[in-house]
Amino acid sequence: MNYAQSRLPRPMRERISLHRLGNVDPVASIADDVRAGFSAIPKSLPPKYFYDERGSWLFEEICKTPEYYLTRTEDALLARIADSVIAKVRPSSILELGSGSSRKTGHLLRACERQRCHARYEPFDVSTEIMLHAAERLVREHAWLSVEVLIGDYLHDLQHIADGTGRRLVLFLGSTIGNFDQHESVSFLRSLRSVMTGDDRFLLGLDRVKEAAILNAAYNDASGLTAEFNLNVLQVINRELDGDFSLQTFAHRAVYNESLARMEMYLDSLVAQSVNLRRLPMQAEFAEGESILTEISCKFTPASIDTMLAQSGFVAEQHFEPENRAFSLVLARPGD
Ligand code: SAH
Ligand code: TRP
Repeated sequence: MNYAQSRLPRPMRERISLHRLGNVDPVASIADDVRAGFSAIPKSLPPKYFYDERGSWLFEEICKTPEYYLTRTEDALLARIADSVIAKVRPSSILELGSGSSRKTGHLLRACERQRCHARYEPFDVSTEIMLHAAERLVREHAWLSVEVLIGDYLHDLQHIADGTGRRLVLFLGSTIGNFDQHESVSFLRSLRSVMTGDDRFLLGLDRVKEAAILNAAYNDASGLTAEFNLNVLQVINRELDGDFSLQTFAHRAVYNESLARMEMYLDSLVAQSVNLRRLPMQAEFAEGESILTEISCKFTPASIDTMLAQSGFVAEQHFEPENRAFSLVLARPGD
């Protein structure tokens, strides 16, 4: 599909195309997901519903808070290694899963420019607006660049990605892999592996196990943006399912679970209440103090990264980390 609704000058606009992968609207599944999540014990929600337009914007703001070291750390690391990664891989296309604002990807695209490696960029996300913003910015910055915006759910629609022409570099940054539990991450990585050729490469960003105080602060920023981001998911449910969640009666809570090496994000009901989701229809009952698990964010060690990749059919070729070892970027190739 051509990209029409834009004030971008036509020659730039023509370098952006849009593809909706799969048949269903990525958020159409919300009814089933909420029904299943609220029937489970404890109640939970899948993470993709955080990222409506407001949620995507709030996440960008979280990335700028002093406590949320992840983005800054990965950004600096990527800036340092971008040239060597591009020189080594020389990709024909760069496919980025959960690309969001594509801010950090800029380092790789600038390395492509320096090395005259004119790869196509394929951002893949559920959040259309933020990808289009990014695409417009990137085609302005790079006269050689074409952007193929892929709208879909990376848990369901990977197999709809067109075969690459030439070598593909797949990116999955931001430690978004940590939002899956062990089982989910292996099955996600296996399905990614199945759409890659032996020549393709994979660059994965992962947050590392560290002191609990640093982790707890990162997900409890003083400005309250993370709390707002977490609560926003209730607003998304209200809108999509005609619900009557009152955001004042839920509180954000994020705690590091040391034994599982993961952050756990909850929304705690401050009162006993019943919430009506008229479009389902469903009446969800909450006891006072009852929690909804809205997100996990697993933290990794070099060994747990290698194990996860090996279980999924990948071989880690190179581990990159900053001096303080707060974050990892791993370049991997499909195993035989
Ligand atoms: N890569 C960016 C953004 C990370 S936030 C960074 O590192 O800063 C996670 C991103 O994944 C969001 O843009 C969100 O919209 C997207 N996302 C979450 N669940 C998804 C899913 N199931 N399918 C596709 N994209 C998803
Ligand atoms: N991928 C991010 C992470 O795991 C997502 C995230 C950051 C997040 N802060 C959050 C999710 C707060 C829910 C609540 O770090």
